Amino acid sequence: MDNIIADLFSELDGSKWSTCAERTLHSKDCVDCLQRQYFDENEVSYSCIEKRKLYVLRYLPVHAAENRAGLRRVPSKVVDNILKYAQIRILSIGGGPGSDLYAALNFLRSKVEDGYRHEVKVTRIDIEPLWDEIAVNVIKAASEDFEVSVKTLHADVMEGLGKVEGKEFDIVVCSYLISELNNVDFEEFGRKLKKVMWNGGVIVINDRPQAEVEEKIRAVFEAANIVCSEVSNTDWAGFFYPDEIVQKVGPKLNMKSKAFWGVKRDN
Ligand SMILES: C[S@@+](CC[C@H](N)C(=O)[O-])C[C@H]1O[C@@H](n2cnc3c(N)ncnc32)[C@H](O)[C@@H]1O
Repeated sequence: MDNIIADLFSELDGSKWSTCAERTLHSKDCVDCLQRQYFDENEVSYSCIEKRKLYVLRYLPVHAAENRAGLRRVPSKVVDNILKYAQIRILSIGGGPGSDLYAALNFLRSKVEDGYRHEVKVTRIDIEPLWDEIAVNVIKAASEDFEVSVKTLHADVMEGLGKVEGKEFDIVVCSYLISELNNVDFEEFGRKLKKVMWNGGVIVINDRPQAEVEEKIRAVFEAANIVCSEVSNTDWAGFFYPDEIVQKVGPKLNMKSKAFWGVKRDN
């Protein structure tokens, strides 16, 4: 992850902001543009390359840590049951640059013996194709001994879930997507999720610790008929940024999220 952060930092081009036609209203530079898009009903979009680089620099390590904190709460016997099989199937929904997948691969890697080559099949559903390149790099960085293949569906979440119907995933991760979804039927979302999970599969949904977001997440779990547990993440994310990046980009250093997790049980 250090290399990804260092490379993207060296590629930043803050001079683009002054002539940018897409910049967020009232923003004063690229960092401010990214931050402000989440407030005052501004449009959230990742079509700008500077915004994507800054998103990764500010949030990849900490969002990976938050997702990993959720995965670490899953009982060992549930994880061991998934790891009994050589093939592990992971679904990421709204993964963007892949912090959720980094967490899942990193977590699984910590659970297996050295040299055990699991085959990991990753499916990504994301509406924004421009994340693909960085996501592939992030997945590669976390793959280690695993043989990882990636299939990407550029689709709205509901359409994407429809496209993978009939498949069974062992691990589903969904981080900071719910807070970005408007006009979505969260019960329908939950019912669709249930259909694509293996009996014994795990789901982790990580997002802002805000009452209205948490209510939506609980509604998803309820509709999926999966009992959910919750953890508030507040500790340091554990990533050492060079001082220059801290000063110029202001990354989120401490976790600040609620991670919900549950296990699908058909009987
Ligand atoms: C805030 S980013 C979260 C990225 C990453 N999961 C994380 O935790 O940092 C939201 C992601 O959801 C995607 N997204 C937004 N709306 C979507 C939709 N309706 N269907 C599918 N993906 C969507 C965006 O392209 C972006 O990658």
